[in-house]
Amino acid sequence: MATAMVIGTQWGDEGKGKIVDYLAQKADVVIRSQGGNNAGHTVVVDDKAFGLRLLPSGILFSDKICIIGSGVVISPQVFLQEIENMRSQGVKISKLEISTRAHVIMPYHVRIDEEDEKLKGDAKIGTTKNGIGPCYADKINRVGIRIGDLMDAGIFEEKLRMNIDLKNRLFEKYYGCQGLDYDAVLQEYLGYAEKLRPYVKDTDYSANVYVTEGKKVLFEGAQATMLDIDHGTYPFVTSSNPTAGGACTGSGVGPRRMQNIVGVVKAYTTRVGAGPFPAEQDNAVGEYLRNTGHEFGTVTGRPRRCGWLDTAVVKYAAMLNSLDYLAITRLDILDDLDVIKICTGYKYKGEMLQEYPASLKILEAAEPVYEEMPGWKTPVSACRTYEELPEAARQYVERISELVGVPLGIVSVGPNRKQTIILK
Ligand code: GTP
Repeated sequence: MATAMVIGTQWGDEGKGKIVDYLAQKADVVIRSQGGNNAGHTVVVDDKAFGLRLLPSGILFSDKICIIGSGVVISPQVFLQEIENMRSQGVKISKLEISTRAHVIMPYHVRIDEEDEKLKGDAKIGTTKNGIGPCYADKINRVGIRIGDLMDAGIFEEKLRMNIDLKNRLFEKYYGCQGLDYDAVLQEYLGYAEKLRPYVKDTDYSANVYVTEGKKVLFEGAQATMLDIDHGTYPFVTSSNPTAGGACTGSGVGPRRMQNIVGVVKAYTTRVGAGPFPAEQDNAVGEYLRNTGHEFGTVTGRPRRCGWLDTAVVKYAAMLNSLDYLAITRLDILDDLDVIKICTGYKYKGEMLQEYPASLKILEAAEPVYEEMPGWKTPVSACRTYEELPEAARQYVERISELVGVPLGIVSVGPNRKQTIILK
């Protein structure tokens, strides 16, 4: 048995897509276990960029089995559209399975997401407005519609009727907008049902069969540790568990099976939307990172907030995910800097904090403490071995590994598959 898992250690956009794609080359099965079409991996193969939102990155290899597990929320439109896009780009899709237990994103989820963000005003979370949060809320509230329900017209009609009745009252009385038309939604989704049917399986079983048969199974994380609903910077988080435990619950594969847990660490930090970010550089350094790293949202185009690498964050992620290795990405973005800083912890009321604070109030008041290292001032994107990296670049990644207490596994020096240095 050999499994591996890829987890984001910061606030997302670390380049997990590239690392998953790289590791997927050797895998037989790739599983996504949480999130929805709010993720946005970009994978570059032979200089061609593929944008993936819902499908596992393994989809780019026609011989891999790809699973969308029970912990994922699925928008049928986005799923079918993404398959169509992949096919039109020449990608062959043959071995894709979606869990009968995964929840379906319905039009009322999208509507609630939009209306709620409007009502919250300044307190808004900055969601992608794809209905992901409201879909998870219904799942927890036990009124959700699962893929398996959609496969049975009788059950679907009944559940849809109950939900439309409930939600229309909410739309008309609370949000002051028009309700949804039951028949229109029913017909639309029954149409999707037939197109989804060939992919639907009880993936709790198939995933475990693949693992026990000795197939190489890769668990692909979406979003990241600091966006975890339990452990992240709540409430500025996503609605699922992007940490290692979420890969177990969202796939049905138990924790004893999980090996080679790789934490993806961007060589600096970015964050989208609101919420505290102690190492943020709202200055020329931030501008440099944003422009050099093209740190603008893939879907929204919103500029991302940028700052120095924060090892207090990554160390916390190492603990929560029991990381085996680090994959440091985007080292090339730092090529031109004279000096590079690492935030190694925070001071609060004159004392160093020993633990990552759960309180946003403390995090907002925390003062970052930095260590300085010399830049390497040489392009690294053509380096193919660890020894070819400039000494200062090696010192930088080694210092990260030392501060976090997790060995280096991968160093990425560019978006392409070949721009990947393997250490373990
Ligand atoms: P989320 O799941 O939304 O958090 O996304 P992600 O972590 O998969 O990040 P995403 O792939 O969207 O963004 C990273 C971008 O960086 C992509 O365009 C990658 O092709 C690119 N990338 C990955 N690794 C490197 C690297 O080492 N150097 C450079 N320059 N780009 C990289």
